[in-house]
Amino acid sequence: MNKVKIVEVGPRDGLQNEPQYLETEHKLELIKLLSESGLKTIEVTSFVRPSAIPQMKDSAELFPKVVSHYGNEFDKYHFPVLVPNLKGMENAIKSGVKEVALFTATSESFTKKNINSTIDESFERFKPVVDLANKNNIKIRGYISTAFYCPYEGKMPIQKLVEMTKKLFDLGVYEVSIGDTVGMATPNEVEDVILELKKSFDLQKIAMHFHDTRGMAIANILKSLDLGIRVFDSSIAGLGGCPYAKGASGNVATEEVVFLMNRLGYRTNIDLEALYKAGLFVVDKLGRNKMSKLLESYAKSLK
Ligand code: HMG
Ligand code: MG
Repeated sequence: MNKVKIVEVGPRDGLQNEPQYLETEHKLELIKLLSESGLKTIEVTSFVRPSAIPQMKDSAELFPKVVSHYGNEFDKYHFPVLVPNLKGMENAIKSGVKEVALFTATSESFTKKNINSTIDESFERFKPVVDLANKNNIKIRGYISTAFYCPYEGKMPIQKLVEMTKKLFDLGVYEVSIGDTVGMATPNEVEDVILELKKSFDLQKIAMHFHDTRGMAIANILKSLDLGIRVFDSSIAGLGGCPYAKGASGNVATEEVVFLMNRLGYRTNIDLEALYKAGLFVVDKLGRNKMSKLLESYAKSLK
C-alpha cells in the first residue's frame, strides 16, 4: 500500500510551546493554508487549562470560526482537538468539535507533570469523556507520550506501551499515536517497538509521532514505513514541543515528510508548494527565525 496519511499537528503541538502568542485570526489563516495544501487531518487546538497552555486559551473562539469557515465542507476534514478531561470535552462540544484526541503516557512522572494525575487516574477521567463522545457521535483518537523515553525516567519498557495501547483501543479510539515526546528514539528502537505492537494490533491503526529533537525523526519515519506504518503526525515548519517535557523540541516538519514521501513514491495528496506557503506564513507571524531545513532552503531560493 503506497498511500500515507499525514496528521498535521502544527496548530496544536506546533504552537503550544511557542512563547509568541498567535492571534486567533492568524491561527485560522494557518489552518486554511494547511487545508489548501490537501491536508485532510489537522489538529486544531486543545481544550486544556489555559494557565497550563496559554497559547491554546482561545480554543473556544477558534473552533467555531473553523466550523463557520468550512461550512458544508467541514465534514470533508478531520479537525481533532486535545481534551484532557470532562470539562475539556464539554467545552469542545459547545464549540462544535466532532473529533477529539485523548492523551496519556507510559511514564508516571511525565503524566503527573503534564496532566496532574497518575496514569490510572487519566484513564478514569477518560471514561466520562468517552461516554459523552459516544452520545454525541464524536470520533476519538488516542496518544501515548513517552513511548520510548521519558525526560524524567529514562528508557521506557515496551510492555508498558503495549498495555497502554490496548487500554486506549478498549476505550474505542480509532487510532493510537505513539509519541517520541522528547525525540530520543533511534531506528533500532523504533523497530523493537513496532514489531512488538504488531503482535497485538493492526498496524494500520497505529500512527507514529516523532519529535525531531536529535535529528532522528526522518530516519525513524523511514524505519516505520519499512515496517508497515502508514500514518505519521507532523508539524508545519517543524514547530513544536511540550512545555512539560524538558528538552522536547519541534515535531518532524510536515514539508520534509511530504518531500520524502514524494521522492519515495508514496502518495499523500499534499501539495508541497502550498505547504511552503503555510510554513512561511506561520514562521513570519511568530517572528521565528528557526524553521525546517527544507523550508529554509525554499525561502533562500526565493531571494
Ligand atoms: P488540574 O489543575 O489538576 O485540574 O489540571 P483541576 O480539575 O484540579 O482544575 C483546576 C482548575 O482548572 C479549575 O479552575 C478548573 O475549572 C480548570 P478554577 O476552579 O481553579 O478556576 N480546568 C480547566 N479549564 C479549562 N479546560 C479544562 C480544564 N480542566 C480543569 N479542560 C489538567 C488538570 C489536565 C486540566 C491540566 O493539567 C492541563 O490542562 N494540562 C494540559 C497539558 C497539555 O496540554 N500538555 C500538552 C499536550 S500533550 C503533548 O503535547 C504530547 C503529544 O504531543 C504527544 C507526544 O509528543 O508525546 C500529544
Ligand atoms: Mg507531541
